[in-house]
Amino acid sequence: MNTSPKVIGIVGSYRKNGYIDTAVTEILAAAAHRGAQTQKIYLQDRPIEFCTNCRACMQEPGTHRGKCVLEDEMDSILKEIESADSLVLGAPVNCGNINALTRRFLERCVCYGYWPWEAPAPKPRNPVKHKKAVLVSSSAAPAWMGRWMTGALGALKNLANILGAKPVGVLWMGLVKPQEVELSDRTRKKARQLGQKLAA
Ligand SMILES: Cc1cc2nc3c(=O)[nH]c(=O)nc-3n(C[C@H](O)[C@H](O)[C@H](O)COP(=O)(O)O)c2cc1C
Repeated sequence: MNTSPKVIGIVGSYRKNGYIDTAVTEILAAAAHRGAQTQKIYLQDRPIEFCTNCRACMQEPGTHRGKCVLEDEMDSILKEIESADSLVLGAPVNCGNINALTRRFLERCVCYGYWPWEAPAPKPRNPVKHKKAVLVSSSAAPAWMGRWMTGALGALKNLANILGAKPVGVLWMGLVKPQEVELSDRTRKKARQLGQKLAA
C-alpha cells in the first residue's frame, strides 16, 4: 500500500503553461521531491456543465456529498479530489474575481452542502477540514492589489473550505504579462516551500 501523501493540483486557468499552470507545476514538483504522489487536473480538459440551480444535490441529509442531476465529469473529478491529502487550487483574477471556469467548478461543488428548502442557509455536510490547501492566483495588477482588492482570494478560500481543505499558504503573482511567462526567483522559492509543506 502506498502511504505517501497525495497532492492534487487543480488548474482553473484557460492557459496551459501560463502563470497559474507553471506555479502549480512548481509546487507539485517540490511536493513530489519530498515523496508525495502528485496529479494535476486541468478544468478546461474536463467537460463540466453549468450548475442548473436546481439544488437537488443539497436536499438529502448525510455527510457524503449529494448526487448531482447532471451527467458529466464532475463526479469523477470530485472522487479524485476526495482521494487527496492536499490540494493546490489555482485560478487567475479576471474582472475582479476568479475566472469563469473556476467559478463554474466552484458552483458545482455545492453538493458538499446540505440546504433543505425550508432552511434559510446551507450547512457544510462535513465541517471537519482533513486536507491542506495552497491557493494560487495571478493578476495584471500588483500582487497586493490583486490579493486584497479583488474577490479572488475569498473565492479560492471558499473553494478550499467546500472541498474540506484548510489553506496553509497563498502564492500570488502580480504584474503578470501574458506574453512572457517567467516565474521570479522569489515566486519559485515560495512555490517550493509551499510544495514541501504539502508533502510534510
Ligand atoms: C478577461 C480578462 C479579465 C482580466 N481581469 C483582470 C482584473 O480584473 N484584474 C487583474 O489584475 N488582472 C486581470 N486580468 C489579467 C489576468 O489576471 C492575467 O492575464 C492572468 O493572471 C494570467 O494568468 P495565466 O497566465 O494563468 O493565464 C484579466 C485578463 C483577462 C483576459
